[in-house]
Amino acid sequence: MRQRRVRAAGIAAAVVALVAGGVSVLPALAAAGPTLAQVATARGFSIGTAAGVKTLASSQWRYVADTQFNSVTMGNEGKWDATEPVQGQFDFAAADFIADYARTTGKRLRGHTLVWHSQLPAWVSADRTAAEQRQVLLDHVSGVAGHFKNTVAQWDVVNEPFNEDGTFRSSVWYQRLGEDYIADALTAARAADPAAKLYINDYNVEGVNAKSTGLYNLVQRLQARGVPIDGVGLQAHLIVGQVPSTLRQNIERFTALGLKVEITELDVRIPLPADASELTQQAADYRAVVGACAAVAGCTGVTTWGVGEADSWVPAFFPGYGAALLFDEQWRARPAYSAVVEALGGTPSVPEPPATPSLVTVASWPFETGLAGWGSRGSEVTTASTAAAHGGTGSVLSSGRTATWQGPTRPVLDLLTPGKLYTVSAWARTASGSGTARLSMQRQNGTATRYENVSADTAISTTWTRLSGDYLFLPGATALSVYLETTDTTGDLYLDDVTIQTEGTPTSASPSVSASVSPSASRSPSASVSPSASRSPSRSPSGSPSVSPSSSASSGGTGCAVHYAKNDWGGGFAGDVTVTNTGSTAVTGWTLRWTFAGNQQVSQAWSTVLTQSGAAVTAVNAAWNGTIPAGASANFGFLASYTGGNTDPSAFTLNGTACTLR
Ligand code: XIL
Repeated sequence: MRQRRVRAAGIAAAVVALVAGGVSVLPALAAAGPTLAQVATARGFSIGTAAGVKTLASSQWRYVADTQFNSVTMGNEGKWDATEPVQGQFDFAAADFIADYARTTGKRLRGHTLVWHSQLPAWVSADRTAAEQRQVLLDHVSGVAGHFKNTVAQWDVVNEPFNEDGTFRSSVWYQRLGEDYIADALTAARAADPAAKLYINDYNVEGVNAKSTGLYNLVQRLQARGVPIDGVGLQAHLIVGQVPSTLRQNIERFTALGLKVEITELDVRIPLPADASELTQQAADYRAVVGACAAVAGCTGVTTWGVGEADSWVPAFFPGYGAALLFDEQWRARPAYSAVVEALGGTPSVPEPPATPSLVTVASWPFETGLAGWGSRGSEVTTASTAAAHGGTGSVLSSGRTATWQGPTRPVLDLLTPGKLYTVSAWARTASGSGTARLSMQRQNGTATRYENVSADTAISTTWTRLSGDYLFLPGATALSVYLETTDTTGDLYLDDVTIQTEGTPTSASPSVSASVSPSASRSPSASVSPSASRSPSRSPSGSPSVSPSSSASSGGTGCAVHYAKNDWGGGFAGDVTVTNTGSTAVTGWTLRWTFAGNQQVSQAWSTVLTQSGAAVTAVNAAWNGTIPAGASANFGFLASYTGGNTDPSAFTLNGTACTLR
């Protein structure tokens, strides 16, 4: 087990906004060069990552993704099983979460994916006529693409339609509708969202080969028929040392058709453990892929399939392989990071990794003094028991169960904050025999109910079994409960020591805050950083408080101070703005306005929703940093270009009140 220490995130990159729990952590401005995103943005190139709802709720993932990438792709949330799990019942809670992230951080959004053979709910393949199947496809494409109208820059409309020999994959779509399903999907997507660029995406189509030639011939047939098709996506799930030598030639033959090309899911996997020479080869591979794309005018961007080891699909899907992305287990840049920056013409400046967040207990039920709000899901009986206990002398007993889904439950809607990631843990035990215990959340969204498993394991009668897992609480819920069941038995069941924890915001410079951090807390081990993780001394002071001491000299009432800093590389700059509430009451919802002194033009912003009209700029809080407690600060950043001088703005207002400058 790894220990956790509470420390404020130290930040060394020039422009970083780490916002957790609504209060920003003051960044230190080090003399760092531009980030990967800045290098890409400066040349009009997209550098993206797949994003998932769980990764998005991790402050460490965000720390890296916010600043290093200017594009995001829906990792799983845009797929059929997520968006239309039941015919005609669309659920966009998860995909909207990704779209909101893209919007509030100013990133381009890639939609993934409308029609695929995988991650399909069973109902899609149920017996029906071809005409009905076609209607299923059209309804889905219209429903999903329509929902995201004007927010998705590119859709992977059809994913993985080919076999390795260039013939069509025998999916439910091809079997029932023939090749025309592709044209139908593209046409429906164009009708639903005319602004979105439409892509066909596949793997093993990076080099010139039978499969990519099948794709090449298909897009020519589509073009000849006037079917809307804007580009092809080359996934690029590669093995170290195996970048196809014909990659650039292949990209060029597609762009010669007037199509755009994107590298959509790049990762370069290495047999584990990865050694230094393999990481060097991997850097060369990344350089080759990004370089080949950047060299061709119609190749507009590269997306990696995740940020770091913790959110890579490789270890789970290619056993024995890993180390496939630009960042490692501790969010440190791998050599490939610098290679990618260089491939885009930049000078690498290796970013500092984020600090380990604290883990705060938001609820715990030791069941030493009664049920504390726990009850039954059905007709079974829920009682406080001293017949068995994991810790102390009490537990909960669920008896008289007549169905597997019955078991102890408790409403938790009022305890959890939408959009946050939680670790939910509990101990389970059977009264006799064994059963598969499942700890889950029941989430009601209007009339739709979702049962979301957190952890499952075998429970037995002779000892306690720990159930623990991450849970991302999606916005929009009307009810939420945690519950325990056994999926294969109805015998008596014990439950004890339930806890719900989440990443906290350090509120004190003193590590003694760690009193609120449970020593038994363990998140997914790959995402945790041991205290011995090497950190450069140049980082901002470890444990720097989010409330700066000087701001305690509050002026009373309302007041604000702004610190405006920039990292200027001539013609372009990254702005970093920290606004401190010097008043005596919290600011809830903020708008910061200023007027540029020259012709500065913002192209991208993060941790704010920023609009510019002429020289006038309006920066409104993002969804998660709208509250600035008295004495605390919010921080956001932006990228801008200019010609001539780059004089700092001389005045700022916060919600209409003039701020002092720091
Ligand atoms: C993968 C996800 O990363 C996994 O989390 C999921 O379990 C399976 O799908 N090609 C694609 C992506 O187009 O959608 C796949 O993503 C990876 C291969």
